[in-house]
Amino acid sequence: MSKIGVLGSGEVGEALADGFLKHGHQVMRGSSNAGKLAGWQAKAGPNAHAGTFREAARWAESIVLAVKGSAAEAVLDAAGLENLAGKTVMDPTNPIAEKPPEDGVLRFFTSLDESLMERLQRKVPEAHFVKVFSCVGNAFMVNPSFPGGPPTMFICGNDAGAKAEVKSVLGQFGWDTADMGTAAAARAIEPLCILWCIPGLRGGGWSHAFKLLRA
Ligand SMILES: NC(=O)c1ccc[n+]([C@@H]2O[C@H](COP(=O)([O-])OP(=O)(O)OC[C@H]3O[C@@H](n4cnc5c(N)ncnc54)[C@H](OP(=O)(O)O)[C@@H]3O)[C@@H](O)[C@H]2O)c1
Repeated sequence: MSKIGVLGSGEVGEALADGFLKHGHQVMRGSSNAGKLAGWQAKAGPNAHAGTFREAARWAESIVLAVKGSAAEAVLDAAGLENLAGKTVMDPTNPIAEKPPEDGVLRFFTSLDESLMERLQRKVPEAHFVKVFSCVGNAFMVNPSFPGGPPTMFICGNDAGAKAEVKSVLGQFGWDTADMGTAAAARAIEPLCILWCIPGLRGGGWSHAFKLLRA
């Protein structure tokens, strides 16, 4: 059983925290206002803990950064950069801008030459960021069931050990993993969120996931 710190009081934090608990891990969720998490903790069982961003990051062996993209750097500061050093940081964040979507196409505050995860990795070089869970809705993050079989989660990051850990988590969570390489590949993976959201934002539903087919 490992200790997973889930930074984030939103629906992604909840889905992934519940997934880690379901698969036998201990979880501490973090928020700027730990009181927000009391209701979740009360129903989540004895392996569920709640605290500040800093308390969750310090306690954890591995971390999930499930916060608003534009707040991600501030949350890392709040967590304490020293509490992230040497740890795997699973990163589902997307750099969604405040401007409204156009024809169902979300806008990002990054460019195709620089992803959010690269910014975060540069900010905390001692942490091992892995992009994961960014290209699917929270309802399908843990053990999704589709008629076409397990979908594909695209991951990337600079540290081979951290990616091996994430691949093992994805196996538990019922995903095929496609490792796209170093942190720079987040420039391609993060925009998959834009593609994933188009059917939903255009009224076509949110019940889908990507699958990579290989010959
Ligand atoms: N929703 C999905 O299905 C989905 C799917 C894939 C990826 N994602 C990505 O996953 C991340 C989390 O999404 P979400 O839907 O769970 O919730 P969210 O509303 O994007 O994020 C909630 C978290 O962000 C923190 N936060 C928000 N604004 C902040 C600010 N100005 N300063 C500091 N912290 C701030 C909140 O802190 P407090 O706890 O202190 O309030 C909270 O913990 C996002 O980057 C999103 O793009 C979402």
